[in-house]
Amino acid sequence: MSQQRTQFASKFGVIAAAVGSAVGLGNIWKFPYIVGQNGGGAFLIVYVVCVLLMGFLAIMTEMSVGRMSQASPLDAFRKLTGNNRWTFIGAMGFFSAFMILGFYLVVAGWSLEYLVQSVTTFSFNGMSTEQLEENFSVFSTASVRPYIWTVVFIVLNVVVISMGVQKGIEKCSEILMPILFLVILYLAVSAFFLPNSYAGYEFYLSPDFSKISPSVVLSALGQSFFSLSLGIGAILTYGSYIKEGNIVHTSWQICLLDTLIAFLAGLVIFPSVFAYGIEPGQGPSLAFIALPAVFSQMPGGIAFSILFFLLISIAALTSTISLFETCVASIVDHFNLKRGWTLAAISLLLLLTCSLCCASLNPALHLTVFGMTVFDFFDYLTSDILLPLGGLVMSIFLGWCFSKDKFHKALTEFGMPEWLFRIYMVFVRFIVPVVILLVMLQQLGLF
Ligand code: TRP
Repeated sequence: MSQQRTQFASKFGVIAAAVGSAVGLGNIWKFPYIVGQNGGGAFLIVYVVCVLLMGFLAIMTEMSVGRMSQASPLDAFRKLTGNNRWTFIGAMGFFSAFMILGFYLVVAGWSLEYLVQSVTTFSFNGMSTEQLEENFSVFSTASVRPYIWTVVFIVLNVVVISMGVQKGIEKCSEILMPILFLVILYLAVSAFFLPNSYAGYEFYLSPDFSKISPSVVLSALGQSFFSLSLGIGAILTYGSYIKEGNIVHTSWQICLLDTLIAFLAGLVIFPSVFAYGIEPGQGPSLAFIALPAVFSQMPGGIAFSILFFLLISIAALTSTISLFETCVASIVDHFNLKRGWTLAAISLLLLLTCSLCCASLNPALHLTVFGMTVFDFFDYLTSDILLPLGGLVMSIFLGWCFSKDKFHKALTEFGMPEWLFRIYMVFVRFIVPVVILLVMLQQLGLF
């Protein structure tokens, strides 16, 4: 018999860790920008519907697989079915987590650089937008500095993960998530008092239903999966550290908090950007060019700037921890290796992968795959292909190939009412696979 698996110690710890995984760059940097570009309030409504109908069910699915199997992604499916046929789902999850880490850690490193720059440049004092653009492009394409910050971020992850599930991941999330929440709340309230902030709310929140098209709906769905950390077994891994509790409540709380924080991020960004007449639709550079431009003009911008980059750094840290843990736990369980050695080996491999991602941003080095930088390629391959594919095969497995009785028992024991199980099964068997397939075909440009 295998030894007792480590468990999260408290309900609050479970929520903090799972919300920590979910709340990340996807919420604070990507979500507001996508909302702004896709019909404001109208997109928000579509997004919430996606979270409620698909995300909520998908979280319950991953969590229940983790809890039932008490194993990480690489072993969970073999433990549930007794054969190896489904191990590929876990293997896909492992590689996806690893590749997401490759580019995500680099952006996380940027947030640390900007946290430091907020102090050293007195919140980018006196810098024009052109200078800020130059600042960002020189920094992000440099060879050494961004990599050093990435390494710092890897070290932070290693420190937390080496302290274990309870004392490391759970404790760290329990401390950081309330801080994150207070900081974002404070920033959202302060943004309200900026001059002309109203225009920002108008841009962010007034629904423009004419912008809603099938492709916008599908991008809302993709974003909800990424934001809720679904499709690669990260929530599954955390689910394997849970034995009790009510799965419906837990999943619901994760969805609610993740969406709330994404929404609050928009309430910080848009009023600020509009207050200072900065262009809001510039995408990836929004956080690293547009916002510093705001901070440089704002009275008290230094505090705002430090808090904002602290916020992104915290959000990125708890998210990278969940990705890291998914990789570490998979290898430890599957090959029965020591956690410390596994952590060291994965960190070394990540040092290599991240160096490729970092270096590929320097155009002079021509590090491209299929015409994309390695950085963009990893983002594309995971977000657009592997994540939805993971969700698709997991729902096919549970809907069609796994014993319905066992699944029913696992979920109802875990607090799911009978009526919800019936609806849930229809979703897992039919709706989820069809919708994900549509998303994938759309993202691949096939329709
Ligand atoms: N959800 C995080 C974000 O919004 C990123 C993330 C963490 C993630 N773990 C994941 C994405 C697992 C997909 C799968 O930034």
